[in-house]
Amino acid sequence: LIAFFTPKTLAGRRVLVTAGPTFEAIDPVRGITNLSSGKMGFAIARAAREAGADVTLVAGPVHVPTPRGVQRVNVQSAQEMLAAVQRNVQAASVFIATAAVADWRPASQSSQKIKKDGSGQTPSLEFVENPDILATVAKSSHALQGDLFCVGFAAESHDLLAHATAKRVRKGVPLLVGNIGPATFGQDDNALLLVDAQGHRELPRASKRVLAQQLMGEIAARLPPLGS
Ligand code: CTP
Ligand code: CA
Repeated sequence: LIAFFTPKTLAGRRVLVTAGPTFEAIDPVRGITNLSSGKMGFAIARAAREAGADVTLVAGPVHVPTPRGVQRVNVQSAQEMLAAVQRNVQAASVFIATAAVADWRPASQSSQKIKKDGSGQTPSLEFVENPDILATVAKSSHALQGDLFCVGFAAESHDLLAHATAKRVRKGVPLLVGNIGPATFGQDDNALLLVDAQGHRELPRASKRVLAQQLMGEIAARLPPLGS
């Protein structure tokens, strides 16, 4: 019923969303990852669909059901996430990056399980930086020409407004959304800070579902008119 009565503010738009963590393998049985339930990203994909958009959701490893009518692409690593995003972004007019992408991955992956050798020695891992999916997309010609509206997320432990403001500029996105603490991982509600070129505004604490719906209204209001 809610879906039926939701204003179709995103009708005729294609929205691409990233969600969840990424998983960076060390060997066939181990890896490093980030804390992320995927709930906010999945709520956003659902709200975008209910607002009338065609939605593709690129999801890292999470156990959250796919929202009805949303096309889901499952990935593991940041590199796979970037590739899936690049396959789907050309057709999109909105890109929303909620994924908690691992900033680093092991420089090399062992094809066999690393075994203890009995000496008590620990393996030393070398890391390399992962591609910044949001910044890469925001700097593509599609976005720079004004045909793709990019939205970033930020989870910070302190100084949210200052970090979110700086991050918006660094990533080159018109809208950056901050999670207002305490840590929201896995929770069903949240509060959001919206930062754009004009300033900032708070969406007060509510369920992730309601916040996602409000956010779709905020994004729709910032899009160029259809057919322009
Ligand atoms: N992001 C991304 N690819 C990455 C890292 C981040 O697409 N490799 C996106 C996230 O999905 C989010 C935004 O960038 O929308 C901000 O992520 P965050 O981790 O807060 O920013 P970083 O630039 O990685 O900075 P740091 O973790 O050092 O605060
Ligand atoms: Ca990061």
